[in-house]
Amino acid sequence: MSHSDTQYHVRPGGTLRGNLRVPGDKSISHRSIMLGSLADGVTRVSGFLEGEDSLATLNAFRAMGVEIEGPDQGQVVIHGVGMHGLKTPNGPLDLGNSGTSMRLLAGLLAGQGLDLVLSGDASLSGRPMRRVTDPLALMGARVETTQAGTAPLHIRPVSGLKAIDYALPVASAQVKSCVLLAGLYAQGETCVTEPAPTRDHTERMLQGFGYEVKKEGSRICVQGGGRLAACDIDVPADISSAAFFLVGASIAPGSDLVLEHVGMNPTRDGIITILRLMGADIEVRNQRNVGGEPVADLRVRHAPLKGIRIPEEQVPLAIDEFPALFVAAACAEGETVLTGAEELRVKESDRIQVMADGLQALGVDARPTPDGMVIRGGRLHGGEVDSHGDHRIAMSLAMAALRSDGDIRISDCANVNTSFPDFVGTAARAGLDIGVAHE
Ligand code: S3P
Repeated sequence: MSHSDTQYHVRPGGTLRGNLRVPGDKSISHRSIMLGSLADGVTRVSGFLEGEDSLATLNAFRAMGVEIEGPDQGQVVIHGVGMHGLKTPNGPLDLGNSGTSMRLLAGLLAGQGLDLVLSGDASLSGRPMRRVTDPLALMGARVETTQAGTAPLHIRPVSGLKAIDYALPVASAQVKSCVLLAGLYAQGETCVTEPAPTRDHTERMLQGFGYEVKKEGSRICVQGGGRLAACDIDVPADISSAAFFLVGASIAPGSDLVLEHVGMNPTRDGIITILRLMGADIEVRNQRNVGGEPVADLRVRHAPLKGIRIPEEQVPLAIDEFPALFVAAACAEGETVLTGAEELRVKESDRIQVMADGLQALGVDARPTPDGMVIRGGRLHGGEVDSHGDHRIAMSLAMAALRSDGDIRISDCANVNTSFPDFVGTAARAGLDIGVAHE
């Protein structure tokens, strides 16, 4: 079989203008399928992300016997099977590139008495899974990893789970969600305490499905043995996909862009806080609440950016946005310093090293550190860069061309489809001079 590399070829300059709505939120799309499948009744989802990651979750539930209609232009109809209605799939569940699918499903499936295997692509098979299998083991689950603590995960049937009170060793919404979802099947009250706030879509959506979630400070608890009642879900546009355009419009002179219906959950809005600290001109308009999640339209205009020391408490609130923020830092005046972000090394790629390599190839003074990066803003040149199959790296480096003095060619971009179908078309309509080559 021949392997074709999807390359982006981005020409320098341009401005971003107009109105656009980026695709649906990935985190919320995953969770809509998971909870909708376990609910009693029919859940209707609109704005669902038709990207490979959330489709991996959708296909996994289909393989476990759930009838799911769509997706059709973001509409999905899920015929819930109830908390104990899933069936053993015929083979391993292939979750592709999606860490969220694997870590949340490990918890959701640990106590269901099923015997199954969760597998993924090369990137996902290199990511740490003991962070979820350790707490699950404390609950009495049997979820086996490889010797290296990685996928494939083999979930063995157990007779029941016991509740735990777990202090998360890392600020991770995936680990928090894994334990809470396992807790739905445990006897007693399962609690997790977060070292820092992380995205709370699981908690919000459980409540939307009528499941009680108790939150006291940083401690979140669920009582096992409840049921979920089907509901309708309107998925907002993904702020993590909007991030590339927030940065692009901020760095490209003459830009004036409106991003519509963007999810503004306060556990996700670090990108706006950090860009504003750098001097960005972002106006939040028409704030509203849609199905338990805050949403707004964002108007962003070009503004001169300055380097900053990024506040560490913002790191979990912008955890997926650092590839884009590094591009902003490369275009800012002065030095930007990121610390406390070692988690970036275990994302879809090592985002500290891969972004440092990419920016250096474009002539930027970018110095990786064990837990972050120091970037001195300056001139960007054209060059050839490798995204290492990481969707967010590919899209971030594409935006860098708005300020480079030569063409930027980016390799290994096919995984952009995991989170942002038709990124190239959307970016081109907004004003980026981007084309695709398959080699
Ligand atoms: C996610 C949580 C984050 C984030 C990921 C999606 C989620 O991961 O990076 O893209 O949907 O819960 P961690 O919880 O591991 O930081």
